[in-house]
Amino acid sequence: MELSQENPNAESSIVPYLNKIICGDSLEVMRKMPSESIDLMVTSPPYNLKNSTGNGMKAGTKTGRWANNPLQNGYAHHDDEMPHDKYVEWQRACLTEVMRLLKDDGAIFYNHKRRVQGGIMQDRDDIVNGFPVRQIIIWKRAGGFNFNPGYFVPSYEVIYLICKPKFKLAPKKNGYTDVWEFPQEMKNKHPAPFPIGLPHRCIESTTAQIILDPFSGSGTTALVAKQLGRNYIGIDISPEYCETAQARINGTETISLKENSLFTWQTDDNLYEGKSH
Ligand SMILES: C[S@@+](CC[C@H](N)C(=O)[O-])C[C@H]1O[C@@H](n2cnc3c(N)ncnc32)[C@H](O)[C@@H]1O
Repeated sequence: MELSQENPNAESSIVPYLNKIICGDSLEVMRKMPSESIDLMVTSPPYNLKNSTGNGMKAGTKTGRWANNPLQNGYAHHDDEMPHDKYVEWQRACLTEVMRLLKDDGAIFYNHKRRVQGGIMQDRDDIVNGFPVRQIIIWKRAGGFNFNPGYFVPSYEVIYLICKPKFKLAPKKNGYTDVWEFPQEMKNKHPAPFPIGLPHRCIESTTAQIILDPFSGSGTTALVAKQLGRNYIGIDISPEYCETAQARINGTETISLKENSLFTWQTDDNLYEGKSH
């Protein structure tokens, strides 16, 4: 695990960040935040889907199973198409920064997805190698149709639980086990939102008071943190998503239906049902 030094220009207090949705680059914003100031991170980063090696969701796919994918154009301000090594480097830098921000009893719930690239499973261990992964939670999603004869229909994502040494769950919450079942979110105009239940499970399984989501999108983690009476910090690069997140938090926007609602789609090397990253 790389070590991150605190930025000498970092704020001395976390208070100015509390209960805000901040529009900006997550690494840049996190570098200004004080060390050991956060209890929990819950996030789902961009999955870098558009760098597919197969006939997957490449830029400009206008026909076929990906044509109506909500992520066809990437995110509003992120194209989701980095060279793989740069993507891994970026995600490791983000995790390194979060480790600096976490208190010594803090933890990270880092949601990601395995996929098949060139016929071989690509797990995400290259991102988390060296970080103190304590557990891998399986998020069982709804099933789908299998267009690929080469492998079974993928029906789960993973959540890496990465912990500082003193992290403990809230009393009796270990009974949730390490397989969680939530249907994917269908009623949110963001292209890849969390279902509300997922950040809810993560947050209420802990006693964390300050929760950070550095890729907050439509603000689901922040919304749930607020509902549970905790403090949130959400960061997203997209002004539109930040606006949506703020409106959800303020209660001025109920979740609207997806414009491109595709419940199941697949390529030769990917299968994503309902939610895609
Ligand atoms: C998988 S989505 C998160 C969705 C979120 N969990 C929700 O419930 O809406 C990933 C998010 O990362 C954001 N993003 C991409 N690059 C970023 C960056 N450099 N800094 C901050 N946010 C970024 C995208 O705009 C996108 O909203």
